[in-house]
Amino acid sequence: MLLHIPNVLTQEELAHGRRLLSQADWADGRLTAGTQSAQVKRNLQLPQQQQTARELQAMVEAALKRNSQFFSAALPKTVFPPLFNCYQGGMDFGNHVDNAVRSHPFDGSWVRTDVSCTLFFSQPDEYDGGELVVEDAYGLHSVKLPAGDMVLYPATSLHRVEPVTRGARLASFFWTQSMVRDDARRTLLFDMDMAISRLRQQHGDTEELVTLTASYHNLLRMWAEL
Ligand code: NI
Repeated sequence: MLLHIPNVLTQEELAHGRRLLSQADWADGRLTAGTQSAQVKRNLQLPQQQQTARELQAMVEAALKRNSQFFSAALPKTVFPPLFNCYQGGMDFGNHVDNAVRSHPFDGSWVRTDVSCTLFFSQPDEYDGGELVVEDAYGLHSVKLPAGDMVLYPATSLHRVEPVTRGARLASFFWTQSMVRDDARRTLLFDMDMAISRLRQQHGDTEELVTLTASYHNLLRMWAEL
């Protein structure tokens, strides 16, 4: 499932985040890349221990915690601390798949990357190029979203970032280990959860809805790994 989640950040958070990113000390993005991806990665990244990065991480984590669509789609067990990147002056990131497991930068635990997210901090008209291109069984998806919006997709997907030929593309990206590792199961649960919410809005809590809600939770119970 490739999902566009609008307005993850408030206007105030976005303005504050953009201010912090504009004053940040950037480093070479290859510092978090695996061997294959390091060869095709040309961008800038915020070192994770930096004070600015910590402040931005806390802001994004708080935004994710209150977002019910993110919860429903990712079913997060562990969210890897969000990272921040910048593409400018022709920088790009060629085709790659993200590392399957990563060491948590603050407690050293292993995090399996089931779900990938990119949260945009630049408006689409502030830069040329910079599309995130994600490949799945249905073909190529080109993603360039308004600032404050996020895309969520399975971390198993081959993807790339097209060269940024004008302006700068600022974004946050991060991975989530899900309680449900299989994308097909997560997609089924997400579709079901969304349909149940819409039915509840339209008809209230009918007897059928109680049954459907029970089935949702029993499927989640069957598949969740904690
Ligand atoms: Ni990637």
